[in-house]
Amino acid sequence: MAASSSGTQELIQELDGLAAAFGQEAEPLATEQEIRAAQARFLGKKGRVSELMKALGRLPASDRPAAGEAANRAKASIESVVAARLAALADAALAADLARQVDVTLPGRGRPLGSLHPLTSVRREVEEIFLGLGFEVRTGPWIETEWHNFDALNTPADHPARDMQDTFFVEGGRILRSHTSPVQVRTMLAGPPPIKIIAPGNVFRRDDDATHTPMFPQVEGLYVDRHVSFADLKGTLLHFVRRFFGGALEIRLRPSFFPFTEPSAEVDAGCFACGGTGTRAPAAGKASPSPSDGVGRSTELEGCRLCKGSGWIEIGGSGMVHPNVFRAVGYDPAEVSGFAFGMGLSRMAMLKYGVEDLRAFYDNDLRFLRQFP
Ligand code: DAH
Repeated sequence: MAASSSGTQELIQELDGLAAAFGQEAEPLATEQEIRAAQARFLGKKGRVSELMKALGRLPASDRPAAGEAANRAKASIESVVAARLAALADAALAADLARQVDVTLPGRGRPLGSLHPLTSVRREVEEIFLGLGFEVRTGPWIETEWHNFDALNTPADHPARDMQDTFFVEGGRILRSHTSPVQVRTMLAGPPPIKIIAPGNVFRRDDDATHTPMFPQVEGLYVDRHVSFADLKGTLLHFVRRFFGGALEIRLRPSFFPFTEPSAEVDAGCFACGGTGTRAPAAGKASPSPSDGVGRSTELEGCRLCKGSGWIEIGGSGMVHPNVFRAVGYDPAEVSGFAFGMGLSRMAMLKYGVEDLRAFYDNDLRFLRQFP
């Protein structure tokens, strides 16, 4: 080394200096990423060590081994600092992990279970009841032809239901079905009687307020065979109401009009909240008459809020299938008869769960939905 030139000495000093500089630079770094980045600044292709190495070629040949050795020393030193710092980081992480106090007696973190949407549970419940009576579940398309939705159901072109105000029209002359009744038509077109189906599904109307949403679920029922009578309709609905709302409730069929049935009836169920009495016992403590209160508080029973004192709640429409509907699907009205009914599933859910604003079913507010386990 005594023979080396002053340029060589300088280079060797600089290389030795770099190793020390790296040590200082790496000292405060606390993550592997930072340490690796510092390493690249020194040993990378354009790093400080590599830059100095370029001068190596300009040294006299006899000096190169000494300078090369210094470069290797610098590299080795930097690499060993990197390895030591990384090992220290890993040790520290492990020590922190081991120092953590774990209370193994704590209960585990359970995953909250999801639950069915109230409209889904109500639909399934309705399906179960009718499946038990031998009905099959059928579905049909949401985008319908006017013929299936109206014409075949004896609803002429000038019927108010066909007004643009009520029905959604889509491109291509089709509509969004305004009720589940077209499934009756499709089922009868697909095969001969006997037919015993219910058809749950969404329907669409241009309505939007506390008791109407533009889309809502209905369930349609249809039973066609020889000798199906109005008594069969009544017995079926009575069974359904008792199973769905519970108890020994009665039903009431009120004369009504639907184009696709004759005769037609509105279906009322005895109010399950007051047992059909129209009255409800006053809340405890509220109306206990005290002789001294002097304001003449009534000891009478209060009116039931659900049925507004009538004892009945409306649940849907029904009737005997109109002969024109049979003609439209190629059935002979002299040979077969049938009954049909339609109910709003969201209305059933509102009644059953005491929900006052229908829109709550569609807001997806978990605080609401969690109440239906
Ligand atoms: N389709 C009727 C509606 O949406 C409901 C209905 C009433 C269906 C009477 C029927 C029925 O099958 O017989 O308002």
